[in-house]
Amino acid sequence: MTEQQLRALLADMSLAEKFGELQQMPGQYYTDDCIETGINAAFDFTEEEVACIGSALNVLDPARIIEIQKQHIARHPHGIPMLFMLDIIHGYSTIYPIPLAQACSFEPDLVRALARATARESCAAGQHVTFSPMADLSRDARWGRVMEGSGEDPYLNAKMAAAAVQGYQGDDLTAEGTISACVKHFAAYGAVEGGREYGYVDMSERMLRQYYLPAYKAACDAGSGMLMTAFNAIAGVPASGSRELNAILRDEWGYEGAVISDYGSISQMYSHGVIQNPLESTKRAMDGGVDIEMCIHHYRRGLPQLLESGEITTEQLDRAVWRVLNLKNRLGLFEDPYHFASPEKAAKLQNCEDFLQLARESVPRCSVLLKNDGKLLPLSPDADETVAFIGPFLNESDLLGGWVNQKVGRITAATLQETLQARFPARDFTYTAGCALLGAEDAMMAEKKHAAFETDADRRCAMLEEAVAAAKAADKVVLFLGEHPQCGGELAARADIRLPKIQRDLFRAVAAVNDTVVTVVFDHRPVELGDIAETSKALLNVWFPGTMGAAGITDMLFGDAAPTGRTTMSFPHTVGQEPIYYNRLPTDHAPEFSPIYITGYVDCPLDPLYCFGEGLTYTDFAYGEVRLDKATLHAGETLTATVTVQNVGERDGEETVQLYIRDPFASVSQPVKELKGFKRVFIPKGENAEVTFPLTPDDLRFYNEDVDFVWEPGEIQVFIGHDSRVSQYKTFRLEE
Ligand code: NOJ
Repeated sequence: MTEQQLRALLADMSLAEKFGELQQMPGQYYTDDCIETGINAAFDFTEEEVACIGSALNVLDPARIIEIQKQHIARHPHGIPMLFMLDIIHGYSTIYPIPLAQACSFEPDLVRALARATARESCAAGQHVTFSPMADLSRDARWGRVMEGSGEDPYLNAKMAAAAVQGYQGDDLTAEGTISACVKHFAAYGAVEGGREYGYVDMSERMLRQYYLPAYKAACDAGSGMLMTAFNAIAGVPASGSRELNAILRDEWGYEGAVISDYGSISQMYSHGVIQNPLESTKRAMDGGVDIEMCIHHYRRGLPQLLESGEITTEQLDRAVWRVLNLKNRLGLFEDPYHFASPEKAAKLQNCEDFLQLARESVPRCSVLLKNDGKLLPLSPDADETVAFIGPFLNESDLLGGWVNQKVGRITAATLQETLQARFPARDFTYTAGCALLGAEDAMMAEKKHAAFETDADRRCAMLEEAVAAAKAADKVVLFLGEHPQCGGELAARADIRLPKIQRDLFRAVAAVNDTVVTVVFDHRPVELGDIAETSKALLNVWFPGTMGAAGITDMLFGDAAPTGRTTMSFPHTVGQEPIYYNRLPTDHAPEFSPIYITGYVDCPLDPLYCFGEGLTYTDFAYGEVRLDKATLHAGETLTATVTVQNVGERDGEETVQLYIRDPFASVSQPVKELKGFKRVFIPKGENAEVTFPLTPDDLRFYNEDVDFVWEPGEIQVFIGHDSRVSQYKTFRLEE
């Protein structure tokens, strides 16, 4: 439709139709004849209201989506199609590594490719909008949802959020194989105090703007069709009713996409203690710029009255409706209301060879090799040695992790044991689980997540004994340990981020009888590794790797592929260090100022166990000196920073070269380091690569005391190296 036609349509719509566009229905309300009944009857929806609903959430079956859409168009006074939305977080049916793992690739192209493949499956399956990417900066591993985002760095988060949007949407949302992104949760949901789910946030405006907002903005600038507001309040103002956030989004950034509330985030303003009834919540949410209310019915009750009383204006209502219509139009729904939905195509695309291959290849790029003493990994595929594969993940069929649509995605292609046996039928390998994923100590978590846990003490003992015997008899042990696959995502905050005790016991018992232990860790967050990190000779963090996890891990263990991911969240020594992140602000109690009065703890180092950007691969790299092509950088100019990186190891390999800056003296305290560039480079064994990074004064902007986004003249340090611990730098001056 042309804009003019769309405007004409809006002008011709009745109030009921307009209200309907702003109201979403949960998919389960649609019964067999596609008419809302059952629970909906309690809300007394009139037939007219039902006919005018603008969107539905969580309808999974493409044939059903087509049927609902068909009947809806026939019933709607103007035949306006519905939008179908779903949380498609790391794959639709083919599941890729969790988003946090994807970010560890430091490879926006990979994130784009995975989102693209996801969009192709989802589009054929009838979906129009995915509630992804999650752009919430996350500094606290206790928060269960860190698995959905990119980690602790604003620069990397912004690149990844934009790449995901581009992947889902392509250049043209009317094209086959695209879906609209919905960036979430605006804003600062990742900063909930103590990592507590549905918690509260308070922070300065400077912090919000400098660290938390850039990734949402990058997603909006990349054209994200939709944005979701957050559950949390910031400084007492619920994000779903915040005029301030709305002004940033609409007035400053000029975002024209549709805004949806999170599920219940409008009604939950009641829990925040700022509204008492649907009239107040509707008023606040509309003033806060929320166009669509997700699944709850405050708008339905509030909008008519508020419009009549003049507390909400017709222009305000029309603006909100316009944004929804506009998204429908961007998707081409007025021409093809089914947007290429096809159960046959969906069935062909789901878990097709190409996507499985992509999933498999992505595993090593997203996995982080944290330790590899004596180059224990990769193992030799044909050595004359015995290896015991032990651990509760050996036969676990869920290597997918949290946020997978159970009905379409809950399948791992093959377990680790099946994969290893198929790949090495002639090798002298032993296999034993050693323990269950969770033990009696995890009863509270297990019950909350509806997960099974070991209750039989005798069985626990017997399994442990079998594992110890296998470990004793083997030359090497590979242990597969980790968090429960359901203990990540929404409602999965943890106060104790160690691996379950039953698994720690297994580790200790195995490590006591075999000193060549490789540990492979599955997790949704940087867990507290404790003696697992200390005692394992090699440590491979695979996060939750997805459908092809077992194949990808086997590739890495035996050297068909090398792990090349770098962690994008710090691994703490202990949970007591949380929140922990590399880009902290300096204090006058830093070690360089006083050897005694240093910032931190008396019982634990200040730094994490593994820092941002850290990760090994199967070869080694040596860095030359940082070179800058200018001593002074003026407005309008670009400085080039260069480093020579040499592959000094025994294999070809890929290195992620990272550039950080520090502004040591500014009007407002600046972080000890900030990522401003990264490049993955392939360097053949024995060869060099010249890696260059451009820097402009705009890259050095920050929010000053007046919350203006400025750069200030002065000295800037440029660090280039392997990870955020890099210490070599060169200095230039920034001048007007
Ligand atoms: C609540 C979650 O916070 C949000 O991320 C999700 O998209 C919605 N529920 C819809 O499932």
